[in-house]
Amino acid sequence: MPGTVIVGTQWGDEGKGRFTDLLCEDMSMVVRYQGGHNAGHTIIADGHTLALQLVPSGILYRHVTPVIGNGVVVDPAVLIAECDMLEGKGIDTSRLKLSGNAHLIMPYHQELDKVTERFLGKNKLGTTKRGIGPSYADKATRVGIRVQDLLDEKIFSAKLDLALREKNGVLAKVYNRLPMKASEIFTRYRSYLERLEPMIADTVELIHETLERNENVLFEGAQATFLDLDQGTYPYVTSSNPVAGGACTGAGVGPRHINRIIGVAKAYVTRVGSGPFPTDLFDEVSDLLVDRGGEYGTNTGRRRRPGWLDAVMLRHAVRLNSLTELALTKLDVLAPLTELKICVAYEDESGRRYDHVPYHQSVLHKVKPVYETLPGWGAEIGEVARFEDLPAAARDYVAAIESLAGVPVTFCSVGPARGQTVVMPAAA
Ligand code: GDP
Ligand code: IMO
Ligand code: MG
Repeated sequence: MPGTVIVGTQWGDEGKGRFTDLLCEDMSMVVRYQGGHNAGHTIIADGHTLALQLVPSGILYRHVTPVIGNGVVVDPAVLIAECDMLEGKGIDTSRLKLSGNAHLIMPYHQELDKVTERFLGKNKLGTTKRGIGPSYADKATRVGIRVQDLLDEKIFSAKLDLALREKNGVLAKVYNRLPMKASEIFTRYRSYLERLEPMIADTVELIHETLERNENVLFEGAQATFLDLDQGTYPYVTSSNPVAGGACTGAGVGPRHINRIIGVAKAYVTRVGSGPFPTDLFDEVSDLLVDRGGEYGTNTGRRRRPGWLDAVMLRHAVRLNSLTELALTKLDVLAPLTELKICVAYEDESGRRYDHVPYHQSVLHKVKPVYETLPGWGAEIGEVARFEDLPAAARDYVAAIESLAGVPVTFCSVGPARGQTVVMPAAA
């Protein structure tokens, strides 16, 4: 059962891309199973810095087949531009496969994402405005248009007309926007077909053929556990299921095909956009984490909100994803701090203590973190290659995380480049 999932354990941008890239050596296939170009996965390797939105992070390896699974929502213009960007850097994209069952992001989805956010005013979610929510909403109400629909002009035209009848009504009458022209969208989307057609495939069949040959398949999560539509901090979430279980529906495999589930955790926490964040920081530590960690959105450029590591969330992520292990990133960012805090529990206004994430939104919004303080190590660690060469305080910090999370840390990263990874004794 050679399936591995990489999943974010926080609110995204934990460094999933760099760990997907790292594990590719042993993989035959890398599959994106949900989300869309709201993701930004950074890989620094082979002299390239890549910020990938839709193309799976296995693209740098010639022996890997990158697959965009049925659970992803695809803006074809973005996908083509990303392939062009990669080809421009000399990276071959001809192996890329795109599920015919993936849903398309249409221009009205992007427009609706923008106007509904404006409409929400101070209650806005802070979405990436990429049309993700409206596209998944159409999928759920069964009026979505799929990649395969592009292949038949009659079907595409009929589905587009039907969708626009409703969308134009909403855009014009509710949001006072100009209606969109079916003919323009039709011509533009059909023109993408020349580039997309060679990629379109029965990806479920391809994934199973690979698994049946006993070759390794990596399922690359986008977003993260606490942005999950069902398990995250609803409504401040994305509209898909990033949790490990989402790999089953978004790629078309059963749970028994997955035997390794790696949760990626930043050594602190960040969040972009609105929503509750118990360990949110507003002091000088916050600026230090943002400056040293380069905590600005990979695609949107927005400043990420930083906070101390939250072990309550981490434990919950272990449960929700059946994590077998953790990969810890950005340990190097903490170097100058003389003391480090880890949130080990929450307390509500009445002093009630929570060792788990409270299900009720009103409680979570108001809880205060209970911290354990650990000493910092006060030295740069970007050159360290072996766990035993990390300063004792850094090793203790990692050990504390393992003990609080209840699963081993198998990798630590000490810088953004491929080589700046410490493989832990447990994984070696
Ligand atoms: P993803 O969305 O989970 O793939 O993460 P992003 O790529 O959006 O954000 C992670 C950012 O942190 C990127 O800019 C990475 O280059 C950077 N990064 C990843 N690991 C490390 C690390 O160990 N140390 C430092 N300093 N930066 C890292
Ligand atoms: P990666 O894969 C961080 C956040 C947005 C917003 C919320 C909903 O790079 O970790 P959406 O556009 O999805 O409807 O926005 O989710 N968000 C992310 N935050 N990393 C991401 O992806 C994100 N994708 C969406 O900021 O709060
Ligand atoms: Mg990202």
